[in-house]
Amino acid sequence: MGEHVTLTYGGKTVELPLVVGSEGEKAIDISRLRRDTGLITLDYGYANTGSCYSAITYMDGENGILRYRGIPVEELAEHSTFIETAYLLINGTLPNRTQLNRFSVLLNDNSLVHEDMRSFYEKYPRASHPMGILSSMVNALRSFYPELQSVEEEINITMTRLLSKARTMAAMSYKISRGHKMVYPRSDLTYCANFLNMMFDTPVKPYRLDSELVEALNVFWILHADHEQNCSTSAVRVVGSGRVNLYAAISAGIAALWGPLHGGANQAVIEMLTDIQRSGGSIMPFIKRAKDKNDPFRLMGFGHRVYKAYDPRAKIMKEMCHRVLQNLKRHDPLLDIAMKLEEVALQDAFFVENNLYPNVDFYSGIVLRAMGIPTNMFTVMFAIGRLPGWIAQWKESMDDPNWKLCRPRQIYTGPKKTDYVPLDER
Ligand code: CMC
Repeated sequence: MGEHVTLTYGGKTVELPLVVGSEGEKAIDISRLRRDTGLITLDYGYANTGSCYSAITYMDGENGILRYRGIPVEELAEHSTFIETAYLLINGTLPNRTQLNRFSVLLNDNSLVHEDMRSFYEKYPRASHPMGILSSMVNALRSFYPELQSVEEEINITMTRLLSKARTMAAMSYKISRGHKMVYPRSDLTYCANFLNMMFDTPVKPYRLDSELVEALNVFWILHADHEQNCSTSAVRVVGSGRVNLYAAISAGIAALWGPLHGGANQAVIEMLTDIQRSGGSIMPFIKRAKDKNDPFRLMGFGHRVYKAYDPRAKIMKEMCHRVLQNLKRHDPLLDIAMKLEEVALQDAFFVENNLYPNVDFYSGIVLRAMGIPTNMFTVMFAIGRLPGWIAQWKESMDDPNWKLCRPRQIYTGPKKTDYVPLDER
């Protein structure tokens, strides 16, 4: 028998198994807790709850470590491409040359979006947020691409379609929002180059691809590709646990990512930096507000549920910010404000005591601005990057024989049994 934790309650002693992960993290397996004691657990925000076993991504928040399938994210950012990293996350190992070529061809072959979907876009009010549009368009894909006969084919083709079409749909939504003609994907361009071309090529001004920006986009998407059981990934797993189709589960993930405490923070950071700029560039009033318990304002792009050290993705993103701007020979005043804000916050007792460091979203918006991506598309960029992770996590849950319908319990605090009062007696 393995290690156990002993719980004594109501004169009864129960042994709860201790499970250990491959990096030594330990958890108490409470799956028999209610049956053996009548108790459930209560854990707001699931901050102490492991919801599954997973072999995809390893995070060590105390030491700022992030690895996909065991490979440090720093190495992937330096040597890999987004497509190779997507393959790694979904399939578990790095592809050989043949597998990678086949995967790229498959992505190219599936990159077109059904022409009828264009009319959906045209009917959205001009001010619609692209995340709302993307979430509903991804859900609509099921109507255009009905279920395939074999489960294997359904899984493989649906995953590829999603990876490929979400990118096309994102660029399409941008073009339509500008009232411009859509640019189709090209088979001679890589995944990232294709996206930039679909966004920025116009009939009057052909887009000149800049290899530096293509590389920056590759790194941006690699850094966002997975982050274990975060809010949107948990949404994908929970919604998927009802055995809904993958499009619907991913659509739920996109909706979850939209929030400013999660993926929406990249847009919120730029808005905050712009507010600081507009108010004359003074940092202190914003730091003061962030520390005020009675003010809901938070320093966007700071803090993380798991990282209690510098987010390793933010480190890479910050370096990339400088490199991209330097190569483009551009100066972004928001970068100066961001660096000043970081410097002040990291010396402030409140931020030090609460272990609040810049997260991935703090510098990412400045890179996206340099590419020409509009602010309201930032979270869409995060969503495209996170697709491989969502897909890999969904697939892992579906392959797990113990995966159950996700259905937490609660501690009821409402009224005790009360009789119904007829309307005219109230
Ligand atoms: N500004 C001011 N105070 C903060 C911040 C912040 N950015 N983040 C946390 N705190 C406070 C928090 O209120 C808490 O105070 P108290 O104990 O008095 O209630 C204390 O610091 C400790 O917070 P925590 O327990 O570490 O935070 P959490 O796990 O509840 O929340 C978070 C994590 C990411 C929601 C939060 O840090 C936040 O709201 N940050 C700003 C939004 C943001 O940048 N989100 C992107 C996260 S990274 C991308 C992603 O993966 O989604």
